[in-house]
Amino acid sequence: MIAPTVGKTLLASAVIFISAVLALILFSPSFRFTQTLSVSPPSERAEIWSLRRLIEWRPCNWWLQGHLEALPEKSNGYIRVDCYGGLNQMRRDFCDGVGIARLLNATLVLPKFKVAAYWNESSGFGDVFDVDYFIEKMNGYVQVVKEVPAKLVSKEPFRVDCSKRKGQFDYVETVLPQLLKHRYISITPAMSQRRDKYPLYAKASRCQACYTALQLTEKLEKKGSELLEAIPKPFLALHLRFEPDMVAYSQCEYSSLSPASIQAIEVARGNRKPWTGEQARLWRSRGKCPLTPNETTTILQALAIPTDTNIYLAAGDGIMELEGLTSVYANVYTKSTLLGGKDFRSMHGNTKAALDYYVSINSDSYVATYFGNMDKMVAAMRAYKGLHRTLFLSRRAFAVLTSQGLEGNSLMEALWKVHRNDYVMGVGSALPNCFCEFKL
Ligand SMILES: *[C@@H]1O[C@H](CO)[C@@H](O)[C@H](O)[C@H]1NC(C)=O
Ligand SMILES: *[C@@H]1O[C@H](CO)[C@@H](O)[C@H](O)[C@H]1NC(C)=O
Ligand SMILES: *[C@@H]1O[C@H](CO)[C@@H](O)[C@H](O)[C@H]1NC(C)=O
Repeated sequence: MIAPTVGKTLLASAVIFISAVLALILFSPSFRFTQTLSVSPPSERAEIWSLRRLIEWRPCNWWLQGHLEALPEKSNGYIRVDCYGGLNQMRRDFCDGVGIARLLNATLVLPKFKVAAYWNESSGFGDVFDVDYFIEKMNGYVQVVKEVPAKLVSKEPFRVDCSKRKGQFDYVETVLPQLLKHRYISITPAMSQRRDKYPLYAKASRCQACYTALQLTEKLEKKGSELLEAIPKPFLALHLRFEPDMVAYSQCEYSSLSPASIQAIEVARGNRKPWTGEQARLWRSRGKCPLTPNETTTILQALAIPTDTNIYLAAGDGIMELEGLTSVYANVYTKSTLLGGKDFRSMHGNTKAALDYYVSINSDSYVATYFGNMDKMVAAMRAYKGLHRTLFLSRRAFAVLTSQGLEGNSLMEALWKVHRNDYVMGVGSALPNCFCEFKL
């Protein structure tokens, strides 16, 4: 599906049309899947990964074809991206910032990675990512410097705060004047910007930065591949997020948790009270509640993933109720059990997160139980690398189906159908911006 820019609109309409027809066929009650797709008990089904997919996401041609426009002769100034939060959130914001710098014909200064105090660490950009590799790979996409020129170096950049802006925020209109005036500014990109309006060369810069140019430092890559080697193959990377902070943040309530879990959640809650009654039910049925290890196990079994599968837990050590998983899936591995050395104990949040990321983009399959920054980043990187055994478990489907009273085999069957369709149609892990649908 090589699409010259001219034919793009036509092609897009064609793809939408074909998808619509496919969706109609697939979801119409009279449609019968071929033998392997028909619904049978999990024990008789083939693993979900063996299904034939109809849609796949691949890097868009306008990105792979390269930087379509020569860089401006004169830069409008210097932009530093200031990033906050966890590793994958910082990375997301940084990628957006690269697109903005190109949009504004600015020169990019290496970003500032600010780490939340509770992480208790100081990993900056260069501690996680290979700076020289980044600069090399961005050649032609956007101008990058390690340091601002001497005459600017003495002053801090002028801060333009975009992070709280909502809606159709226009960077050329609002940020360019500040850039021209101050020559050196720092920004934290707004979450809800309209990237679709960017010229292709700015979009391509963003994609290039995020998925091609960011490589872990040599030291981290080495540790990552050491970890990867230690995991029995083939294996599934599972991102479980049933940790006290996440559960507290979700404002969900769970029945039949252990007293220890209940206490840990209470501590993490602070003033944030969980929803109750009807509101709690609605909240849950909108898919807002993290899956427990037990619920995750039920879905994995519904997907006919064999219980002797090697599973790498891409998660911290704070997962609660893990027996819900390990009592069924016995071959579960974590980085602390596999590495455990002195150098591992001295690692902190960002670098540990980088290891989980590394393993997750190199695993045979990846299953996300949440839709967080890491999951989105990993799904995109896997698509970039042509690894398509990626699935986001549907919290919403689980909540709705169980609230309808389904259990046992009928629950499993219903869960299978939902996830089968997601996997076959490339739904769920839909990748924004840099990836385009490819009909197989
Ligand atoms: C950036 O440069 C391109 C030409 O390379 C020009 O078309 C565009 O208007 C410029 N944008 C800004 C914001 O200066
Ligand atoms: C933060 O890390 C330092 C050095 O690794 C350690 O000495 C200190 O106890 C840690 N502080 C907290 C609150 O964990
Ligand atoms: C989940 O927990 C329930 C109640 O404790 C139990 O009956 C069920 O077998 C568990 N399911 C799995 C898949 O572990």
